[in-house]
Amino acid sequence: MAGLGRVARVVSEVRCDVRAARDRDPAARGVARAEILATWPGIHALLAYRVAHALYQAGVPLLPRLISMLTRALTGIEIHPAARIGCGLFIDHGAGVVIGETADIGKDVTLYQGVTLGGTGFATGKRHPTVQDNVTIGSGAKLLGPITVGHGAKIGANSVVITDVPANATVVGNPGHPVRVDGRRVEGPDADWIHLPDPIAEAIQALSSRIVTLERQLAELSDAEPAPAAEVRPLRSVRGPNPAGG
Ligand SMILES: CC(C)(COP(=O)(O)OP(=O)(O)OC[C@H]1O[C@@H](n2cnc3c(N)ncnc32)[C@H](O)[C@@H]1OP(=O)(O)O)[C@@H](O)C(=O)NCCC(=O)NCCS
Repeated sequence: MAGLGRVARVVSEVRCDVRAARDRDPAARGVARAEILATWPGIHALLAYRVAHALYQAGVPLLPRLISMLTRALTGIEIHPAARIGCGLFIDHGAGVVIGETADIGKDVTLYQGVTLGGTGFATGKRHPTVQDNVTIGSGAKLLGPITVGHGAKIGANSVVITDVPANATVVGNPGHPVRVDGRRVEGPDADWIHLPDPIAEAIQALSSRIVTLERQLAELSDAEPAPAAEVRPLRSVRGPNPAGG
């Protein structure tokens, strides 16, 4: 009975995945479900994962990992059988996608090729990202560690994300940082990731101005000409347009 329940669940999840491909892949417009099922590598990877995951949950040894390994060889998509993936995941193109053992993916998520949901090192336990519903992750993005990506967030292509992402935020760059939240530009000094203050130059500047004061007082006492003040320039400019738009 439990076996039949698992089969029914796998079938309904695969239906949901095929529907997601039809809805979200512009190349799937007008393509029959059977053709998508037969020729979309993302669908093959998910079908294999759904079977492997059911076997893994049933405690079947070896087979789930063998399925995962063969699927990687066929599609270039590697999904650990223990990962948890909600219905309606769409993996576009697919090659190079890696989904780690403790990754947790919600419903209706979209991944492009080259996305990694990975760990940061040799830690054990929960070490891969949790991705909530309706998230889109651009090609080549690396999401590392047990972070949470809030529902509806978008991760730009080639971003490297190692901290939590708020819901409905757009995160880009390396390190990944929010440039939009709820469709609005991120404002304020914390939004500027390029024009950062230079604390070393600031400290040297403070010391320099104290030396200037001391030299002036010395010059007054000894009737000598005061020495010109040394110029301290920050290594990075703190002016210029804010790349985050703030
Ligand atoms: C991030 C993304 C989802 C767009 O999200 P959005 O909420 O519509 O955001 P916008 O397009 O308005 O871009 C927001 C800002 O981020 C910048 N940006 C967008 N994508 C970026 C990226 N991948 N890397 C760096 N900056 C990026 C934009 O230039 C813009 O900057 P601005 O604030 O100075 O104008 C999209 O750019 C992206 O990367 N999609 C992935 C698509 C993909 O992988 N396709 C592969 C198909 S095979």
